[in-house]
Amino acid sequence: MPSSGAPLYNRDVSGLFATPINATTRYCAVYGHPIKHSASPAMQNAGLAALGLNWRYLAFPVHPDQLQACIVGAAAMQFIGLNLTVPHKLLAVELVDALDESARTWGAVNTIRFETQTADGTWTRLADIKEPVTGPIRSHGFNTDADAIVRALRDDLSLEPRGAVVLLLGAGGAGRTAALKLASENVRELFLVNRTRAKAEALALEIRQRHPNVKVAVGYPNASVDLVLNATSLGLRSTDELPFDGLAFQPSRAQAAYDMIYRPAETAFLAAARAAGCRTANGLGMLLYQGAAALELWTGRIPPIDVMRDALQKNVYGP
Ligand code: ATR
Repeated sequence: MPSSGAPLYNRDVSGLFATPINATTRYCAVYGHPIKHSASPAMQNAGLAALGLNWRYLAFPVHPDQLQACIVGAAAMQFIGLNLTVPHKLLAVELVDALDESARTWGAVNTIRFETQTADGTWTRLADIKEPVTGPIRSHGFNTDADAIVRALRDDLSLEPRGAVVLLLGAGGAGRTAALKLASENVRELFLVNRTRAKAEALALEIRQRHPNVKVAVGYPNASVDLVLNATSLGLRSTDELPFDGLAFQPSRAQAAYDMIYRPAETAFLAAARAAGCRTANGLGMLLYQGAAALELWTGRIPPIDVMRDALQKNVYGP
C-alpha cells in the first residue's frame, strides 16, 4: 500500500500522447552512457505528439563498445533516426555509412537519419516511405550542435555574431566548437581564455588558419565586448569558482552573457552578469535547437519549437 496521501498514479497527463502505441508506431532514440538524466525524450516526444505523428523517442544506455551494433540494430529495425550524446559523438564519425558536411566540419555526429535507396537510386528518409522498406538502409550522420549555438545567441540573446567582439571562456570540446562556429559566422574579434593556456593557443592557431579574417587573441580584452560566453564546466556545482578572473575582467564590460550550462538555471556567472546589467541566457536553448534541428531532419517538417521548449523546461526545472 502506498503511504497515506501519496498519489496512486501520475496525475500529470502532459506526457500522454494522442496516439497509443500500436504496430505502426515508429521509433527514434538517443544513445548515451550514462543516459538517464537526458531531457531529450521529454522534448522530442512532445514535439512528435504536437506534429500528430505516431512515433516515439526512446533513450538507451549504450556502452561505447556496443555503439556500432546498436546503430546497425536500429537500422535493421527501421528506426527513423538517432541522437547521440556523450561519449559517442566523435566515435560515430567512423561508424555511419554517410557523413553530412556538418558532421565532417565538426568531426562529430549528434544526429543520425536512416535512409533507404529508392528505385531511382536516391537516398530517402525512412519517414517518407509509406510501404514496408525493402531496399538497403544507410545511416547518415549530421551535426546540429554547432548551428544551435548561433541560433541560441540570436533567438535567446538577440545577439548577431557577425561583427561581434566575443570573450570565450573555455577551450575544451564545447569551447572549440563555439569558437570555430563563431569564427565561421564572421565575428570581428575573439578573445580566448582557458585554464590550460596551451589549449587556447592551439585553438587560436587553428582559427587563424581556417578563418584568417577573424582577429584572435589569447587572454582578456582591455576594452568592452559584445558577448562573454562560458564554455567551461565551472558553474555546474554550487561550490565552483567563477569561470573568469575578476581582476582581469568585469561582467559590466560585456553587453551580453551566455552560459552553456543550463543546470542550474542561473549559474554564479550568469547571476554576476545579470547584476552587472548584461542580457543573459543559459544553455537550455542549445539543447532545444539541436533537438529541433534533428526533428526537422527526421520529419522534413517545421519543428513545434514552443511545445518542445515547454516540455524541456518542465523536464529540467519542474512544472
Ligand atoms: P566539454 O566537452 O564540455 O567542453 P571538456 O572538453 O572537458 O568538456 O572541457 C571542459 C572545459 O572546462 C575546459 O575548458 C576546462 O579547462 P582545461 O582545458 O584547462 O581542462 C574547463 N575547466 C574544467 N574544470 C575547470 C576548473 N576547475 N577551472 C578552470 N577551468 C576548468
